[in-house]
Amino acid sequence: QESGIHPLWPSKNEYDEWYNVPATIANAISERLHVQKDHPISITRSIIESKFPQPLFKYYNEEFPVVSTYRNFDSLGFPADHPGRSKTDTYYINKNTVLRTHTSAHQREIFKENKSRGFLISADVYRRDAIDRSHYPVFHQMEGAQTWDRNEVPNGDLAAAVWKDFEALPKHSMVVEDPNPTVHPERNPLQAEHHSMEEVEAMAAHLKRSIELVVAEIFTRAKAAATASDPNYVDEPLRVRWIEAYFPFTSPSWELEVFWQGDWLEVLGCGIVKQDVLDGADMHQQAGWAFGMGLERIAMLMFEIPDIRLFWSKDQRFLSQFEGVSDNLDRLRRFIPFSKYPACYKDVAFWLRSSSSSAGGGLSANSQDFHENDVMEIVRDVGGDVVEDVKQTDSFTHPKTGRRSLCYRINYRSLERTLTNEEANEYHENVRQALVKQLGVELR
Ligand code: PHE
Repeated sequence: QESGIHPLWPSKNEYDEWYNVPATIANAISERLHVQKDHPISITRSIIESKFPQPLFKYYNEEFPVVSTYRNFDSLGFPADHPGRSKTDTYYINKNTVLRTHTSAHQREIFKENKSRGFLISADVYRRDAIDRSHYPVFHQMEGAQTWDRNEVPNGDLAAAVWKDFEALPKHSMVVEDPNPTVHPERNPLQAEHHSMEEVEAMAAHLKRSIELVVAEIFTRAKAAATASDPNYVDEPLRVRWIEAYFPFTSPSWELEVFWQGDWLEVLGCGIVKQDVLDGADMHQQAGWAFGMGLERIAMLMFEIPDIRLFWSKDQRFLSQFEGVSDNLDRLRRFIPFSKYPACYKDVAFWLRSSSSSAGGGLSANSQDFHENDVMEIVRDVGGDVVEDVKQTDSFTHPKTGRRSLCYRINYRSLERTLTNEEANEYHENVRQALVKQLGVELR
């Protein structure tokens, strides 16, 4: 089935023992939701793009997802032992080739093209991950960056040039919490060999204001949509906050969180680009900022879409709700969920093997190597989008034998119809058999 994935997909003789891409994931690369007219991911992309206008920003929407580990990790300063590189977290074609885990994989390359002082890259990204209503192994990110060239700013005064651009940005009336100083000497340091404190203060302010303008725009649109759908809608004041973060390719770094339905939700990561990345793109005289945001998260907030699987639905009850919005954003309405079908919970309990003998299929489930994402993937492979949620409900080590036992609760629920108990049982039996066959576990 894999030969027809995509014309640019690597041929089978490039696969090696690292290969771990199931057909369902490989097939997602042709979907291109971020450029599909009237799809909510694409609508979200264009609303954000409108806050970073051309020609100052150049847009990239066509980058292919198969990239070298060099691009995805090394070019960004990820250490050799970074957990993100592991097979349990990342989809590999072979030892040196992955499905990109983030749009930052294209940073260096696009900086190098250096066609503009800013860019936006929107694309599908791939991560092996837990299953729940806000995580899916394929999602979309938008990367943005803006730089200033020391040789081109008046008197070489970078800080003054950035502050001038900052003043030119529109103001907003959102309440923003930003309790920490711009840098922290250990946790969030200044790149002292490359930047002065004044320069970083200016770039940080410019970065934060630029992103706050996006958030303000999104929530203005969301509020208009909600009010159009429900004239009695009362909005709550929007709360956002900046917190310290760490990324190998920015310093200092921050995350933006939005208060939503009682919780702080992370919506993006950002920071001042590491000079190594810019040097790698022959931009020795430049400095600037970069961010990466998850488009599903933002679309879910804006449209009140309750489940991330919906973005992949071909159901007209979903897609028709966004018709005509690309041409006229005033047509944006709050998403109206279709009727909920009942949940169907099934448990599976099993013993991990204590020896390190290997099972078929390349996965192994002895206690040391076991990774939950392997269970997630097997469940996803068998159940597809009929599985809403998988949770560990028990973990126990036998006091005498030292063997470890785990129990998972799987919720089978279709977005489109009521599953009969017989159907759910059949899915569940297939999951049980696949766990035995692919992980070599012993069912309890
Ligand atoms: N690539 C990072 C992520 O996926 C986000 C990021 C992008 C952070 C650019 C800083 C700068 O988590």
